[in-house]
Amino acid sequence: MMQPTAIAYFLSLCGFLGAATVNVTFDNLQKLMSTALNNIQNNVDVNLNTLELIRKAGYPADAHVVLTEDGYLLTIHRIPGGENSPVVFLQHCLLCSSAIWVIIGKGKALPYKLADQGYDVWLGNFRGNTYSRAHISLSPSPSNAKFWDFSFDEMGTYDLPAMISYVTNLTSKPVHTYIGYSMGTTTFYVMAVKRPEVAKMVRMMISLAPAAFVGNLSGGLRLIIPFANSIAAILRSLGKNELLPKNSVLLYPVRVGCNVDLFTQQICGIIALLFDGFDDEQLNYTLLPMILAHFPSGTSIKTVLHFVQGIKSGKFCEYDYGQEKNMQIYNATIPPDYDLSRITVPIALMYGTNDLITPEKISAIEEIHDMQV
Ligand SMILES: *[C@@H]1O[C@H](CO)[C@@H](O)[C@H](O)[C@H]1NC(C)=O
Ligand SMILES: *[C@@H]1O[C@H](CO)[C@@H](O)[C@H](O)[C@H]1NC(C)=O
Ligand SMILES: *[C@@H]1O[C@H](CO)[C@@H](O)[C@H](O)[C@H]1NC(C)=O
Ligand SMILES: *[C@@H]1O[C@H](CO)[C@@H](O)[C@H](O)[C@H]1NC(C)=O
Repeated sequence: MMQPTAIAYFLSLCGFLGAATVNVTFDNLQKLMSTALNNIQNNVDVNLNTLELIRKAGYPADAHVVLTEDGYLLTIHRIPGGENSPVVFLQHCLLCSSAIWVIIGKGKALPYKLADQGYDVWLGNFRGNTYSRAHISLSPSPSNAKFWDFSFDEMGTYDLPAMISYVTNLTSKPVHTYIGYSMGTTTFYVMAVKRPEVAKMVRMMISLAPAAFVGNLSGGLRLIIPFANSIAAILRSLGKNELLPKNSVLLYPVRVGCNVDLFTQQICGIIALLFDGFDDEQLNYTLLPMILAHFPSGTSIKTVLHFVQGIKSGKFCEYDYGQEKNMQIYNATIPPDYDLSRITVPIALMYGTNDLITPEKISAIEEIHDMQV
């Protein structure tokens, strides 16, 4: 499956190219827009949230709200199993939400397959996304820098421990398997390093597209990396600390442009593949409106900057605040590495040989691998 994290960056391109495929006159553009809007309105599924999608597929679903130690309110979705069902916990990628797991639909989506096999399935949502945009005292307004002052480090240090403790307490059993996708793996490694007492509640971890050492990222995203800090500085000066929430107006032209017909869906899909690794057969173009309805789902700018630091340095370490502030926070001028030798949970690593974002050629794969027996 395509790596949805990439879509964020082809957004504007996509909309414009979509429109440019016909002779662009004002009339034409209006017609295109209204076709696209009709398509969006007629495709009821694009307006459903995770719970509604699961229920529509014929499975029971409920939501649980969990409080983190630092006050964030997270929503976990669940397809409940029976009394003796082993617990599987699924955790989403960067700019994603729990919806990412079920978009592909009944008969194919992993949560449904797991539920069919008798597992108790839990789908986490990290702070800042559509379903976890809440805090006991801080407003999630994009201009509130305090709410958005987090990266994947806090997700691993606070969010996963809160969600996993909640689930193990409620079900009175350990998590049989944690399945992370991309940032859902990064954050698990952070937890396993910084909160080993919680990681012990997980029997086994499966990493899909493992993202720890991201220095070998290539493809279209690489072109944006040199500008990332400047873009972030501009956004922050405009009072924007949140990146690409689900209903962002910035996404409007993309959702419309990519929704006109199969042809524009293919163009948008192909652009996405240039960022991810080209594998035409693995992308169902007619799913694109659904994917774009749920991706991106919002995160903090700081989360993306933390990844950008890792891409530039090739290291898997804590957030770099600059020498002076690092000294105050870490008592060192450079941020400390995540000490992977502390990981004791057995981990299975699965990666796409054609994935440009989390490529096969990463030292992390061997490093983590060596630690597992
Ligand atoms: C664990 O569950 C019990 C009841 O089910 C609840 O009273 C208690 O507060 C929970 N503890 C935690 C840490 O969530
Ligand atoms: C692509 O997705 C559509 C819409 O969900 C579905 O009807 C169709 O069967 C899918 N095609 C393939 C080849 O999986
Ligand atoms: C990138 O890949 C090479 C192998 O081709 C490896 O030696 C190197 O450590 C990798 N860099 C990072 C940052 O993962
Ligand atoms: C800070 O680091 C120095 C040198 O590495 C060490 O001697 C000192 O004990 C550290 N201070 C604290 C508060 O950890």
